[in-house]
Amino acid sequence: MKTSIQEALSWAKEELTESCERPMFEAELLLAYHLGKDRIYLITHESDKVEHFEVFQKFIKRRAANEPYEYIAGKVSFYDIHLEVEKGVLIPRPETEILIDLVSGIIEKEKITHIAEIGVGSGAISVVLARKFPELKIIATDICDAPLKVAHKNIDTFGLTEQVELRKSNLIDEINEPIELVVSNPPYIAEDCLLEPNVVDYEPKEALFGGRVGDELLKQIILDVKEKGIKYLACEMGYDQKEPIKAFVNEVGVKSIKFYKDLAGFDRGFVIQFL
Ligand SMILES: C[S@@+](CC[C@H](N)C(=O)[O-])C[C@H]1O[C@@H](n2cnc3c(N)ncnc32)[C@H](O)[C@@H]1O
Repeated sequence: MKTSIQEALSWAKEELTESCERPMFEAELLLAYHLGKDRIYLITHESDKVEHFEVFQKFIKRRAANEPYEYIAGKVSFYDIHLEVEKGVLIPRPETEILIDLVSGIIEKEKITHIAEIGVGSGAISVVLARKFPELKIIATDICDAPLKVAHKNIDTFGLTEQVELRKSNLIDEINEPIELVVSNPPYIAEDCLLEPNVVDYEPKEALFGGRVGDELLKQIILDVKEKGIKYLACEMGYDQKEPIKAFVNEVGVKSIKFYKDLAGFDRGFVIQFL
């Protein structure tokens, strides 16, 4: 006997009750993905039979074990695009869109044409910026192979290989070309921080943890960008890192630093002008 959309959803909702805050919503998302339709289709076709129900069951079992939807579907919605993601690569977060908008403002105002990104991940920041500014050239680094591979796919999908060059590098060690601005959403979480199982069990540690305290890489980035004589640095950071970063830049010496908040009102990053 074949299972209908309505029956499949009610089974999936039960399976997801413990692991998900919104089990029906997540069940619908995964069934819509499985059928290659949108969620409205499920409502208007609830008596239709679900082809390959066993495949859908496997998706639900994975989600019930806390695997993020984005890894199961292999894609994420970010800014105005969909990007490929897979295990080994951070799932881009909505708050990073704020960093992109701030950087876009500086690029426009200063007519910047050459930037670098540290920690490219899926390519989220570089792909969006390259699409917004067709004249912009970006060198994007990562220390891990998995993100470089996925970023390459995404850059290629959007036809941006002429604009975005990927480079395996620790921070900006391998960049010696003239650069006007560096953008980064680096790992900034403290090593002993307790994270949700969907994050800590699935997302790469190299993308999450910034050191024992958490802000070690951020501080190193500030030093490296200053040393290379680059004018601007824009970074995302943790909600509790404003004071230590402020104290650090006071020691280092910068022209100005402006902190910004995310949509929930938490401190989320900064823009430094060095020159
Ligand atoms: C928080 S993720 C950000 C990914 C992507 N930019 C985004 O916003 O979704 C940080 C990335 O930095 C990379 N990374 C960690 N340490 C690094 C280092 N020392 N140098 C370059 N990249 C590094 C990680 O592999 C990871 O891809």
